[in-house]
Amino acid sequence: MTTTATNEAIGMRAVVRARYGPPDVLRLEEVAKPSPADDEVLVRVRATSVNPVDWYGLTGTPYVARAMMGFFKPKSELFGDDFAGVVEAVGRDVTDFRPGDEVFGGTSGAFAEYVAVGDGFGPKPANLTFEEAAAVPVAALTALQGLRDQGQLRPGQEVLINGASGGVGTFAVQIAKALGAQVTAVCSTRNVELVRSLGADHVIDYTREDFTRSGRRYDLLLDVAGSKSWSKCRRVLNPQATLVMVGAPKGNRLLGPLGHFVRVRLAAVRGSQKAVFFIAKLNRSDLGILRELLESGKVKPVVERRYDLGEIADALRYLGEGHAQGKLVITLRCRAARR
Ligand SMILES: NC(=O)c1ccc[n+]([C@@H]2O[C@H](COP(=O)([O-])OP(=O)(O)OC[C@H]3O[C@@H](n4cnc5c(N)ncnc54)[C@H](OP(=O)(O)O)[C@@H]3O)[C@@H](O)[C@H]2O)c1
Repeated sequence: MTTTATNEAIGMRAVVRARYGPPDVLRLEEVAKPSPADDEVLVRVRATSVNPVDWYGLTGTPYVARAMMGFFKPKSELFGDDFAGVVEAVGRDVTDFRPGDEVFGGTSGAFAEYVAVGDGFGPKPANLTFEEAAAVPVAALTALQGLRDQGQLRPGQEVLINGASGGVGTFAVQIAKALGAQVTAVCSTRNVELVRSLGADHVIDYTREDFTRSGRRYDLLLDVAGSKSWSKCRRVLNPQATLVMVGAPKGNRLLGPLGHFVRVRLAAVRGSQKAVFFIAKLNRSDLGILRELLESGKVKPVVERRYDLGEIADALRYLGEGHAQGKLVITLRCRAARR
């Protein structure tokens, strides 16, 4: 394993949750620094960002998800996904990265000063700061895979993005434009100008107008908000159109958003229009596609607020309200700078 001088320390600061609960259960603690396996790199995290999945991991809801997360308490005290940082050490089998390389990606346990990762990361877009790069992985991969893979979006098609102003939505508007689509974005009043500036051709303010009564028809509905039933959504879908379900309101504690996804899937069994749900997958190839889109300037991260690592509870509290504008990022200052 190649190491640099800073790898001598055995501890690191990380945000931990010993039990499920509200953001108040979070503690900033000194924990063991991970050691990279032979096929992994050790990354010093410079920035991370919060996603709704972190909210679910914090609160332990919906309960059905505890089958994966741990029934009575979290299987791992560490959590968080998105990161951007600098490779500090590489395992003996790693040939494509070296100490000093700037990278971004996702792995569990990213609310920490270091992560050891084998996959799910790639070179950081050169034109982005660490904060901007940390805003990208989960949200932008979800937007890309939802539009391109699940929605099979083609140039010239009409796409409606419901929930266009948050983490996933702000990337989805820009990626849909980059894929050559005509984009209609649905958001609340305060975000109308933002989503227009991201390239949306039409904007519907959901506080004034119900998009399911607009009379327009779409080839693809990327539903990030999950605010409408299938019977309403299908009114605006072309006969061969697809509804791609990305997110939904928090729902009850047992099923959470899954209740909405199951209801829509069952209701959509008959008929020519399709409804699909998917979970985005982190992979280097799609991170490379995003890097190109970001470096070409076709896609830009929208960052509403910045926090320090010790303020993650505040970031999650705000995210949990469900009205973040773009992304909320967390900056990690190096130890010398903290003194
Ligand atoms: N399937 C997957 O793999 C995957 C991956 C990532 C995220 N997700 C899910 O996707 C959803 C969004 O994630 P995110 O990171 O974008 O969350 P976020 O950053 O918290 O954004 C939520 C956005 O939803 C908008 N919104 C709230 N109510 C709305 C309504 N009735 N109509 C239209 N927009 C509404 C809000 O805008 P206003 O302030 O304008 O209301 C806000 O900008 C979550 O449910 C998350 O769990 C799924």
